[in-house]
Amino acid sequence: MSDVAVAVNDLTKVFPIPFRRSKVVAVRGLNLEVAPGQVYGLLGPNGSGKSTTLKIILGLVSPSAGTTRIFGRDSREVGSREGVGFLPENPYFYKYLTGEETLFFYGKLCGLRGAALRARTRELLTLVRLEAAKDRPLGGYSKGMLQRIGLAQALVQEPKLVVLDEPTAGVDPEGSREIRDLILDLKRRGITVLLSSHLLAHVQEICDRVGILAHGVLVREGRVDELLAIENQTELVLENVNPEVLAQIRRLLENTATRLVEERQPQTTLESLFLAATNGPPSP
Ligand SMILES: Nc1ncnc2c1ncn2[C@@H]1O[C@H](COP(=O)(O)OP(=O)(O)O)[C@@H](O)[C@H]1O
Ligand SMILES: [Mg+2]
Repeated sequence: MSDVAVAVNDLTKVFPIPFRRSKVVAVRGLNLEVAPGQVYGLLGPNGSGKSTTLKIILGLVSPSAGTTRIFGRDSREVGSREGVGFLPENPYFYKYLTGEETLFFYGKLCGLRGAALRARTRELLTLVRLEAAKDRPLGGYSKGMLQRIGLAQALVQEPKLVVLDEPTAGVDPEGSREIRDLILDLKRRGITVLLSSHLLAHVQEICDRVGILAHGVLVREGRVDELLAIENQTELVLENVNPEVLAQIRRLLENTATRLVEERQPQTTLESLFLAATNGPPSP
């Protein structure tokens, strides 16, 4: 087995526009690697090429140039998709089926039958915390609950890699937090996760690495903390500091090359405030 979960090499995708002599370059010379066990975030604004890249990796769209591989196998081989789960950007579910029936349906598609099918469905409903809603039709589910059913569906075959296209888009902060917790659960089970998002803030705390796409070009790549760090600055967070100590610190810095850029009280995020105010899980 390859020691790289997903490899993208010199990938380019051009969509011709029929009846007009023009084309859209959705992905341009993309290179990236996802290590096994990592949560990797493909980020970028709408139209930057995230979904196209994911679909090429999954073998659903053919590349114009370059290759993509899953655990060493070319995406053009049908077998490369064994052990891969996928949650598309706008999953389509039958709204009259209940959550449980939906998972039965996908389980059967994957060849499960009888007791194994029932056991796997129960396990997945527990994993995505939808046992209480299992007998309700999906038509009455919130966007967050639908995304969780979608995630359960992607896990039916016990994949080694799951690909999630915008798993938190359109989901409220509490639902979005639940989805992030589930993704961290997958990581703990050793599953590699490749996800996309147009909002860095939604995924920055769960991604080991991110790649940022703009107009189909990878403009930044690396660990989130490295990408966000301002290299020549250091932040000190002091508790119970009194004005005297602060004055001493300022004096210490006089006549040195160190400049105190700003003094401020650390702020929580609006999202944490919202969650605290609505009794959601406290942020770590
Ligand atoms: N099937 C298609 N035919 C023509 N153009 C497409 C097709 N799919 C995507 N595109 C174009 O490719 C670009 C990237 O799209 P997409 O990969 O969906 O971006 P993202 O997922 O980042 O929003 C956009 O300009 C989009 O309009
Ligand atoms: Mg997309």
